[in-house]
Amino acid sequence: TSPNQTYRTSYHFQPPKNWMNDPNGPMIYKGIYHLFYQYNPNGADWGSIVWAHSTSLDLVNWTPHPPAISPSQQAGDINGCWSGSATILPGDKPAMLYTGINPQSHQVQNLAVPKNLSDPFLIEWVKSPKNPLMAPTTSNKINSSSFRDPTTAWLGPDGTWRVIIGSKINRQGLAILYKSKDFVHWIQSQQPLHFADDTGMWECPDFFPISTNSQNALDTSMVGSGIKHVLKLSLDDTKHDYYTIGTYNLNKDIYIPDKGSVDGDSGLRYDYGKFYASKTFFDSVKQRRILWGWINESMPQPEYIKQGWSGVQAIPRNIWLDKSRKQLVQWPISAIETLRTNQVDLPSKLLKGRSMLEISSITAAQADVEISFSVLEIEKAEVMDPSWTNPQLLCSQKDASIKGGLGPFGLKVLASKDLKEHTSVFFRIFKAQNNKHVVLMCSDQSRSSLNQNTDKTTYGAFLEVDPIHEQLSLRSLIDQSIVESFGGEGKACITARVYPTLAIGGKAHLYAFNNGRGSVRISKLSAWSMKRAHIY
Ligand code: FRU
Repeated sequence: TSPNQTYRTSYHFQPPKNWMNDPNGPMIYKGIYHLFYQYNPNGADWGSIVWAHSTSLDLVNWTPHPPAISPSQQAGDINGCWSGSATILPGDKPAMLYTGINPQSHQVQNLAVPKNLSDPFLIEWVKSPKNPLMAPTTSNKINSSSFRDPTTAWLGPDGTWRVIIGSKINRQGLAILYKSKDFVHWIQSQQPLHFADDTGMWECPDFFPISTNSQNALDTSMVGSGIKHVLKLSLDDTKHDYYTIGTYNLNKDIYIPDKGSVDGDSGLRYDYGKFYASKTFFDSVKQRRILWGWINESMPQPEYIKQGWSGVQAIPRNIWLDKSRKQLVQWPISAIETLRTNQVDLPSKLLKGRSMLEISSITAAQADVEISFSVLEIEKAEVMDPSWTNPQLLCSQKDASIKGGLGPFGLKVLASKDLKEHTSVFFRIFKAQNNKHVVLMCSDQSRSSLNQNTDKTTYGAFLEVDPIHEQLSLRSLIDQSIVESFGGEGKACITARVYPTLAIGGKAHLYAFNNGRGSVRISKLSAWSMKRAHIY
């Protein structure tokens, strides 16, 4: 049966049918971008996983290829080819380290390399006869069901390769470190690169250097001055991607998060909505670091099995260190703008309290919207209670229908004409202690669909923007069943999946709204219809 098209996206990466999860081994080779991903060729649910493969010249339009890595090796991966990463070895030779599931269902690490380096599409991959290269044994005490997802390896100044693998011991999450001189023989280090108590299993770790004084990215092996490191973990417990910023101590081969940059559930997230098992790669041509992340469905399992497909990839994001050096900033790759068409611009406009404004003449179900607000009546901000520390909870208690002092104001997307269905992406401004203001960014899915069964959790994040001296900007990429929102020019991101039953395709509307008491000025508003990308 062919997959149900109702909620298919038009410019997000997804296979024609079946299940997709983590992005794997993203890289650029001979000017061509490669994306591999966890894929079940046999159905729309997670199952026996292979590495599907597509290539692109711009990270927007794609050409599919046959699966690159599938179960075939008795000792290494006969029960599944799970997540892993690309490393470009000297001489421009890509190598994939990935997790295989062996006959005992243990997790082990394997190597695969291109069969023919002169094929720029790298269609065929061969596995090392030495696989598995890293495995749980009785002496290393590694938990055989919690040992997976090798990172891109980095080369130390001592000529030794290093890689980390996600793991746990009881409730302690850890990044096990292995070292190798030749990329084939790997020796476990005494100490993990990093660990943290009570965080549970660390899936899909990612570890990379980041410049403290430039938006230009760094190759993964870079060390030295003007460099900090980022460690990202996908927490199996909460299914969110968290990161810390810190220092990589080369002598001890340990990573130390900065003071105030905390591990685990109270730490910073790439995305405060849905976004998991993400992975970056260094784009050596454009000197940027690109972040890929998987976004799963928000409908019950029987419904996505019935629709015949599951999972999309987020629009690839450029990632760099914020001026504060305390957090990262993310922005959709500029090539996505090649899909923009029918631009609508609005002159600066007052948006009074309790008012709404339709943004018409674009395809509201397939759009890119940029809106900026300036706050006019800061004295109308409500007082922040110091106990309001959980932004997601605050957004669900004060959802878009709750009138406030300053805010909620923002966008209503994928809205039906009668507003029976809509998703609200908005800000609220509170007055905190010592005359500071707190900006809350929310994505409220509670009225997104008349279908009772979908997960309509509201998401929220605090946004490090000073609403008195700075404009409050919001960009939303809307694509049928996905809304990816970027607040404060990429300081906070919230991705949501929604399944309207009325606001589908041409029946979807887009509005700017202000449900607060205070007026705000829309200082900038540009919106575009988005063309369909060639994905498969
Ligand atoms: C994360 C994950 C990885 C694993 C893969 C299996 O979503 O569970 O830890 O390698 O998916 O498909």
